[in-house]
Amino acid sequence: MVHFYMPVPIIKVQNLIKKYGNLTAVSDISFEVEQGTIFGFLGPNGAGKTTTIGILCTLLAPTSGSASIFGHDCARESSEVRKSIGIVFQDTTLDKDLTARENLVFHAYLYDVKKSERDRRINEALTFVGLYDRGDDLVKKFSGGMKRRLEVARGLIHRPKVLFLDEPTLGLDPQTRANLWDFIVELPRRHNVTIFMTTHYMDEAEVCDRIAIIDRGKIITIGTPEELKKTIGGDVIYVKTSDNRRAKSEIEKLFRVEVSEQDGELFLTSLKGDACIPEIIRALGDSVLSVRLQRPTLNDVFLKMTGREMRSEDVSSGDTLKAEVRTYRRHHDRS
Ligand SMILES: Nc1ncnc2c1ncn2[C@@H]1O[C@H](COP(=O)(O)OP(=O)(O)O)[C@@H](O)[C@H]1O
Ligand SMILES: [Mg+2]
Repeated sequence: MVHFYMPVPIIKVQNLIKKYGNLTAVSDISFEVEQGTIFGFLGPNGAGKTTTIGILCTLLAPTSGSASIFGHDCARESSEVRKSIGIVFQDTTLDKDLTARENLVFHAYLYDVKKSERDRRINEALTFVGLYDRGDDLVKKFSGGMKRRLEVARGLIHRPKVLFLDEPTLGLDPQTRANLWDFIVELPRRHNVTIFMTTHYMDEAEVCDRIAIIDRGKIITIGTPEELKKTIGGDVIYVKTSDNRRAKSEIEKLFRVEVSEQDGELFLTSLKGDACIPEIIRALGDSVLSVRLQRPTLNDVFLKMTGREMRSEDVSSGDTLKAEVRTYRRHHDRS
């Protein structure tokens, strides 16, 4: 049987520009996101990530250019777009004086989820984020990580096609960040949802199927994490053996690459360290004294493209959208 793989773009952005007075926050960006994938918008503070999400979520009007979700124009068909998206913002929008479950019920009500469906979806979402047992606790008793998980659960209640996560791990400790990612990566498969996420943590973007690196309102590069890192030139593998001459010729035969030697250590640039290292050890056996791998990071990519480091500590609270969110929620409340 022949399978034809047809990627379906669910988000389309074309020549999008957003200006605030003299400041160009988003400067002529274009990209597409395929259905069922995790797309990462990676860039330092002030790069234009939240502004882009704001336009896609119909909370901000673009200055020019276009954005659409599932074929609906974000500026002209906002109510259609809103039905097909879920949003988790940088700053929490949960009601802390309600229980977890009550927050979800309220959300289901705003989105006209049928009563008959409601409890089933809420139970499923709470279970998915590991908060089923805490459903009847007040949100004010929750830790930062629990709140963020609850927000993701809430974002899923109305079965969105796209879930937007704006810096979902900001302010969380590394352990909690890791836990959150463990289940975010499950979302496309488990809930048939496309993820559009932003982060300024370079390492987090590794889980994405594709990444756009954005800086000063411009997309500077776009591709899979592997593709982006390949622009750096691949992994470097270092090998020390008791007989470097023999090892050099063995490795060269094995991979048909050039092996160099420096300070008694052989090194080769290869694209797949994980695959090559076991083969090297198998081929050279006991003569191997040490093997180490140096892997390019997305930070190296950012550095190469901009000439600047992207520092994680360089972050402010950035609550650009708080006011718009409130307006949005009020609007939904009434309708
Ligand atoms: N409402 C606003 N009015 C004026 N400038 C803004 C507004 N919102 C954002 N900006 C500016 O636009 C740029 C991009 O901001 P933002 O999209 O929040 O970046 P990021 O989310 O990547 O940190 C920044 O220079 C920011 O100061
Ligand atoms: Mg932001």
